[in-house]
Amino acid sequence: MLKLAVSGKGGVGKTTLVSLLARLYAEEGHKVIAIDADPDANLASALGFPAELARSIVPISEMKDLIEERTGAKPGTMGGIFRLNPRVDDIPERYSARYHDVRLLVMGTVKKGGSGCVCPESVLLKSLVRYLLLERSQVVLMDMEAGVEHLGRGTAEAVNAMIVVVEPGLRSVETAHTIAALASDIRIPHVFAVGCKVRSESDREFILRSLPDVPVLGYLSYSPLAIEADLAGKSVYDLDAGLVAEARTIKAMLGELLAVPP
Ligand SMILES: Nc1ncnc2c1ncn2[C@@H]1O[C@H](COP(=O)(O)OP(=O)(O)OP(=O)(O)O)[C@@H](O)[C@H]1O
Ligand SMILES: [Mg+2]
Repeated sequence: MLKLAVSGKGGVGKTTLVSLLARLYAEEGHKVIAIDADPDANLASALGFPAELARSIVPISEMKDLIEERTGAKPGTMGGIFRLNPRVDDIPERYSARYHDVRLLVMGTVKKGGSGCVCPESVLLKSLVRYLLLERSQVVLMDMEAGVEHLGRGTAEAVNAMIVVVEPGLRSVETAHTIAALASDIRIPHVFAVGCKVRSESDREFILRSLPDVPVLGYLSYSPLAIEADLAGKSVYDLDAGLVAEARTIKAMLGELLAVPP
């Protein structure tokens, strides 16, 4: 089953793409879990979760009792003794929210205590991500920030691919190059690009030309309905059939290049 990470510069359309793909895989009857791994979490509203349900979601990193119960140490402590392989297999089922057949897990932020923080909350989050990536029965889609922080060595190899989202413009392309290099450093097997907010054929050509080493899966056109969806807290999947069709093409291309079911 597909295990996909989505990254890219801030504001390019990562969350929009993840929300579209999540709904498409769910519509086909797959079990889908979307992971919001962005500290500034907003995948719930992009997936169209009703505001009340979205507000009720507590990020895993803030579940202090759970973290202490599973790791044996209080969150916020460092250097103490705690379990490095806490039990996580029941967490997706118990602590995810669900809407339109998409399960959503919100990871939350781990305050970094120096580089490579080894604290109970980061151990629990890493174990959880690793568990979901190795578990076979569901499609996993991770909405990340610009980087690969949530995927350490060892975990990254369990991801089938990373999609770097770019918009027509040099800044997001530069970020894409950095992310693509990091992704291959930590051995993510495939790195692909998706162009978002594309307005013209020359935008497409710009993206193709700027990323000669990264296969482009497809494009999401610039869409005023995407902005409207964001304003209204609705899912673009329910508002813009054009973007859904483009996402379907991206999904098909991904399936073809990966030859991973689905
Ligand atoms: N195809 C599109 N056309 C027009 N606007 C879009 C499109 N895709 C996304 N947007 C808008 O751009 C903004 C950012 O989109 P989104 O939240 O998906 O990006 P992101 O990369 O996840 O951002 P962040 O880095 O803040 O998490 C939103 O207001 C969204 O509605
Ligand atoms: Mg986002």
